Amino acid sequence: MNVTVVGCGYVGLVTGVCFASLGHKVTGVEINEERAARIRDGIAPFHEPGLAERLGSSLAEGTFKVSSQLDDAVDADVIFLCVQTPMAADGKLDTTFLADAAEELSQVLSGTGRRHALVVRSTVTPGTTEHLIAPIVRAHNPMVAVASNPEFLREGSAVSDFMEPDRVVIGLNDPWAAGVVADLYEPLDALVVHTTPSAAELAKCTSNAFLATLISFSNQIARIAEAIPGVEVEEVLSILHKDRRLSPVVDDQTISPGILSYLKPGAGFGGACLPKDLSALTHYAAAVGERAEMLEAVMEINETQPSRLVSIIEDELGQLAGQRIAVLGVAFKAETDDLRESPGLKVIDLLLEKGAGVSAYDPLVARDAVEGLTEKGVGFAPNLGDAVRDADACLIATRADEFLELPASLDAVGNERAIIVDGRRLLDPETLSGPRKYIAVGRSRKEPTESAGASSL
Ligand code: UDX
Repeated sequence: MNVTVVGCGYVGLVTGVCFASLGHKVTGVEINEERAARIRDGIAPFHEPGLAERLGSSLAEGTFKVSSQLDDAVDADVIFLCVQTPMAADGKLDTTFLADAAEELSQVLSGTGRRHALVVRSTVTPGTTEHLIAPIVRAHNPMVAVASNPEFLREGSAVSDFMEPDRVVIGLNDPWAAGVVADLYEPLDALVVHTTPSAAELAKCTSNAFLATLISFSNQIARIAEAIPGVEVEEVLSILHKDRRLSPVVDDQTISPGILSYLKPGAGFGGACLPKDLSALTHYAAAVGERAEMLEAVMEINETQPSRLVSIIEDELGQLAGQRIAVLGVAFKAETDDLRESPGLKVIDLLLEKGAGVSAYDPLVARDAVEGLTEKGVGFAPNLGDAVRDADACLIATRADEFLELPASLDAVGNERAIIVDGRRLLDPETLSGPRKYIAVGRSRKEPTESAGASSL
């Protein structure tokens, strides 16, 4: 089938290249010439495991090409809109780029005299496909069917999430187009859920709001645990995880579902999706007359989590002014170089405000990628050892495997004084030897006493 993907960012490029590797003939439209040229040369513009290989082979086989002209969409059976829908200043989604792309596309499709399926893949709130995009396009060509097909792609595993989806959601009111879009996914043998555009849009927002809720819930419990001498949040949550409704037993084997990793405290959620989608859903709820108090609390806990981490370091060191802190992990999570809404970067700003000196390191992020850090006086180290050499405290801000080596790295560079603050619960405290101080989010720093706990009842 002929497919056009409008926008070659994280979602569009993965979608386009994966469809190409399924045997479809795909054109990726990218208006940023520099980005388009790099993709044409087989260079993925961001780190995503498995993407560069598939891009290279689909370019070589001629199943994927890049264009900067929307005119190329004229031959497409299905056109995916994968342009950004960023968070506007008021916390709602900014759909300007999406509407502009639809407007431009509508001119291209106006004279084709044939049917096309136009699919909104960018994350949007309910009603956007039917009430914003469909009228723009159908005014020029009423034969265009407009659909919602939200992505559920995690950065760092986006290619495998595409190739082995939990579900493919197609929100569409037109049986012809529903069939055509479903046929695209046929080689995957995936579970396809057909629904209305608004239900598909809400399902996407709901999915990310749910993940965000689990993370803030875990951080809420961690805050309580930190206040109780002798209590470990890890132990408390592992007791929760053992509920068979969360860890079912099948054939005498306990299954540990992936969702449990979101029921873990940490530095808070970040990235291009969870914070934005949660905010968008909260504003959408208000617009339909429902205040989403629970989602508001989820956001509030998340926004204050970086300052909780900074307070933990400050309490331990007595003060931050003049101290040197190594922040390990500046991307929003491990296995990505994406800096958007990164908790690590928020922690850095808070540390600088309090007068600390900061060195930063991330195995996947290059020094030049982080705008403004050098100007702020942050030293960006080329490796873990250099980052922690002179540190008074080391904060683990992402779960990068390399940070498991932190205690050994500190020993190797002869830094005996640095404390470790584990903002991701990455290290196993049992394996740490020697006198080094280890503090983790959700781990009480108060010694258990007989009267403790009872006095606060
Ligand atoms: C998310 C959704 O998972 C995906 O389905 C959706 O389509 C796009 O948004 P992504 O933003 O790449 O994907 O991140 P995800 O891996 O879900 O991580 C989001 C946040 O959760 C991060 O801040 C991360 O640190 C945290 N996280 C992630 C956990 O706490 N535990 C995990 O196991 C994974």
